[in-house]
Amino acid sequence: MMSATLLSVSNLNKSFGAVTIADDISFDIYEGEVVGIIGPNGAGKTTLFGMLAGTVGADSGTIKFGGSNISSTPTYVRAQMGMGRTYQIPRPFTHMTVADNMRVASMFAGGLEPAECGDWVKQVLEFTGLTSQKDMLAGKLSLLGRKRHELARALATRPSLLLVDEVAAGLTDAEVDEFIALIRKVRDSGITVVWIEHVMKTMLSATDRLLAIAGGKIIASGKPQDVIETKEVRRVYLGA
Ligand SMILES: Nc1ncnc2c1ncn2[C@@H]1O[C@H](COP(=O)(O)OP(=O)(O)O)[C@@H](O)[C@H]1O
Ligand SMILES: [Mg+2]
Repeated sequence: MMSATLLSVSNLNKSFGAVTIADDISFDIYEGEVVGIIGPNGAGKTTLFGMLAGTVGADSGTIKFGGSNISSTPTYVRAQMGMGRTYQIPRPFTHMTVADNMRVASMFAGGLEPAECGDWVKQVLEFTGLTSQKDMLAGKLSLLGRKRHELARALATRPSLLLVDEVAAGLTDAEVDEFIALIRKVRDSGITVVWIEHVMKTMLSATDRLLAIAGGKIIASGKPQDVIETKEVRRVYLGA
């Protein structure tokens, strides 16, 4: 079955001085997929998310989301259009509770009225397993709690596309499995996911498709197992 294109990136270019982050990158993301992005440290994965979300300006290229050209659309409008994002370094309002952080997200990026956000936040707290910690100050959460909360804050914005930047780093194997299950649940709820991760187990067991980036180019794309076995990816990761 063919799915509609949700995100379409065409001829994206970006350099920081002499460092090329994106060298004429083009790719599409289809509704309902979980797409993994792998690549060495410094390859430009987080910067790519920044360009998709609008926090980092591209040098050239076109980004379409849900059929609209959003290349020069401000970040907050992209968020209101349904693009949700987690950050590799979470920055919640540490002096606010877990639930209040999510309320803010649901109002400012999710477009909910104050009267509506209580029920919605309750649902997202349950979905992400944070209900028992809802009244805790966000700054007091454990590492696992902070990571769950980062995902919960992004989900509170009611995204149709969720960009996840390295939630698995530093977690135990069992905790990684929990995130794999959670991302599958996100997908099953109808949200398309693009997930950057180094922990290969997540990419092999939770994604439908992988894009490998290095040197500003997409060096391999396709079925996860096929991608990690390509010569190009093995060379970048193993020096083989
Ligand atoms: N604002 C910036 N100014 C200059 N260089 C940057 C900036 N942001 C990132 N970089 C550089 O761009 C490269 C890619 O960074 P990043 O996107 O964080 O990579 P990744 O997420 O793949 O590890 C790195 O060399 C980083 O130092
Ligand atoms: Mg990064």
